[in-house]
Amino acid sequence: MERPPGPWGNRYRVQYLKGHVTAAVTRDQLQDKERKVRTALQHVVKCNLEKEDMMDPIVIPPADCVISGWLLDVISKDQNDYMRYLRKFSSLLKPGGHIILMGCLEMSYFIVGKHKFHGFSYDEDFARKALVGEGFIIDRCKVKKRTDVSDHTDWKALIFIAAHKEK
Ligand SMILES: C[S@@+](CC[C@H](N)C(=O)[O-])C[C@H]1O[C@@H](n2cnc3c(N)ncnc32)[C@H](O)[C@@H]1O
Repeated sequence: MERPPGPWGNRYRVQYLKGHVTAAVTRDQLQDKERKVRTALQHVVKCNLEKEDMMDPIVIPPADCVISGWLLDVISKDQNDYMRYLRKFSSLLKPGGHIILMGCLEMSYFIVGKHKFHGFSYDEDFARKALVGEGFIIDRCKVKKRTDVSDHTDWKALIFIAAHKEK
C-alpha cells in the first residue's frame, strides 16, 4: 500500500494525533506502530456505504472490529443517515465485535481548496444514543476540545468512541 500524498496522508494524521492525543508517545514509537499496522494489512478493498450491501461484490467474513474515522461526519446528511450507516457497520461485525469511531463534533462545513463541503453536525449525546440505539455497548468515549482557530472548518471538538456489539 502506498502512502497517500498530500495533507490527508498517513504521515500527517499520525503527527496530528501525536500533537493532539498521544503527546506522551515519541515519534519513533509512532513510526513503529505505523509499520506494524502496514505489515498486518493483507488486503485493501473498496466499500460504499450507500450501497445496500456496502462490500458488494466482495463477501467478507464477520469482522472482529470496524474502525471508522471522519467518514460518518461527511457522508451523513442527517441523524437518520448516521444511524443507518452505524447499522451497516454493525452488520459487518461478529456478535461481541468492536467498533472504533473517530469524528468531529458540531462541524457544519469544511473547505478543501476552493470547495466547501457539508458536515453533519452532532454532539456527544447524539453519538452515544445512536450507538446504544443500534445495539452497541460503549466501552470508552473521549472528547477533546478544539484549540486551534481556522476558517477552513468549524468543528468544535474531536470524539473517540470504542464500543462493542451486544452478543
Ligand atoms: C474526511 S475523509 C476521511 C478519510 C479517512 N478515514 C481519514 O481519516 O483520513 C472521508 C472519506 O469518506 C469516503 N467516502 C465518501 N463517501 C463514501 C461512501 N459512500 N462510502 C464509503 N466511503 C465514502 C471518501 O472517499 C473519503 O476518503
